[in-house]
Amino acid sequence: MARLKDDVLAALGTVSSPDGTALPATGKLSDIVASDGKVFLSITVDAGAVKVWEAVRERAESAIRAVPGVKSVMVALTAERAAGVGGGHAAPGAAQARGSSPGTTPRAAPRTAAGAPPAPSPAGIPGVEGIIAVASGKGGVGKSTTAINLALGLRDLGLKVGILDADIYGPSMPKLLAIRERPQTIGGTRLKPIERYGMRVMSIGFLIEEETPMIWRGPMVMSALTQMLREVEWGALDVMVVDMPPGTGDAQLTMAQQVPLRGAVIVSTPQDLALIDARRGIAMFRRVNVPVLGIVENMSTFICPHCGTRSDIFGHGGARHEAERLGVPFLGEVPLDIVIREKSDAGLPVVATAPDSPNAQIYRDIAARVRDGIAGPSRPAPKIVIEA
Ligand SMILES: Nc1ncnc2c1ncn2[C@@H]1O[C@H](COP(=O)(O)OP(=O)(O)OP(=O)(O)O)[C@@H](O)[C@H]1O
Ligand SMILES: [Mg+2]
Repeated sequence: MARLKDDVLAALGTVSSPDGTALPATGKLSDIVASDGKVFLSITVDAGAVKVWEAVRERAESAIRAVPGVKSVMVALTAERAAGVGGGHAAPGAAQARGSSPGTTPRAAPRTAAGAPPAPSPAGIPGVEGIIAVASGKGGVGKSTTAINLALGLRDLGLKVGILDADIYGPSMPKLLAIRERPQTIGGTRLKPIERYGMRVMSIGFLIEEETPMIWRGPMVMSALTQMLREVEWGALDVMVVDMPPGTGDAQLTMAQQVPLRGAVIVSTPQDLALIDARRGIAMFRRVNVPVLGIVENMSTFICPHCGTRSDIFGHGGARHEAERLGVPFLGEVPLDIVIREKSDAGLPVVATAPDSPNAQIYRDIAARVRDGIAGPSRPAPKIVIEA
């Protein structure tokens, strides 16, 4: 493994930067992730110099591809964020550093000037009809569990579904779907999503060893997400469900600004504290003009696995009340049920593996409401063709 990394570095030594310096000597390279023949690194450049660096990025990819043992390569161009914009707290519309310019065609909408509202129609993903984000302000409330079962519920409604795990800090999909294989590449650069339960899935967790600590600076978050959106062969999908990392930081803003989100589903537990965070999440999506499709109350009522008694450990109905207060739809309540946890953690989501259970029905009902929420002419994904 270490040898592959050394060989990659040596190959990069043959690539010159725009001022003639060999790439490794520029100090702009990230650490090289080389695992199982897959190589990933980024080059950090000034936002204004992205154009001249694109050619360097392409040369770097070609040089790495020629290294024996390399099966696929992703070199991302990341731009330093404009001075004065703090990591993770950038206001929507503030000068956002560009993510990578994914090496196919120049398709990026021109960036807005600092302070201007985000571009109204970011380019869609060809073939993908609607993209929805599953988000929450707070961590650990069950976003990933909801995302996967919601996706399965949408599948059961006859839709062709994809799942993008946008939680690059702590990807969940390898575990929730018990996926251990690595995605294949098509033509050296584009990745093929992994198929599970009739859905196409992509996660950074498929590319990186589980133990690899993932330290991403703001601009790299955008780059990694942009690549997973645009350099993956998603094919034709009716809906893509995006499992978001917790919070209202770079990842959410990137999603909202770089893809035409049809809507966001907010997951919350019933406690006040979680609801405050949920409110923050809703406010963020509203600021970037993404419709909030509704709130799911997760870990609502506790159902005792022994006697079946229901008790409201975290309170109950808080999310419904909050939804009413904020004027967004209430999508449903999922009980706190040990079966959900056990099945999730075993990679056997309930909607797929216990389709006749009451919990599966709850998720399917939520899915139907989400489908109704995204139906209609609200924000059709712009149809643009990007050549591979
Ligand atoms: N309704 C539920 N009943 C029982 N356990 C649940 C339920 N929903 C989620 N869990 C469990 O709670 C834990 C956290 O869930 P999950 O990973 O989906 O949350 P998350 O919001 O995506 O977390 P993070 O913020 O870390 O991404 C997991 O162990 C999951 O199995
Ligand atoms: Mg999660």
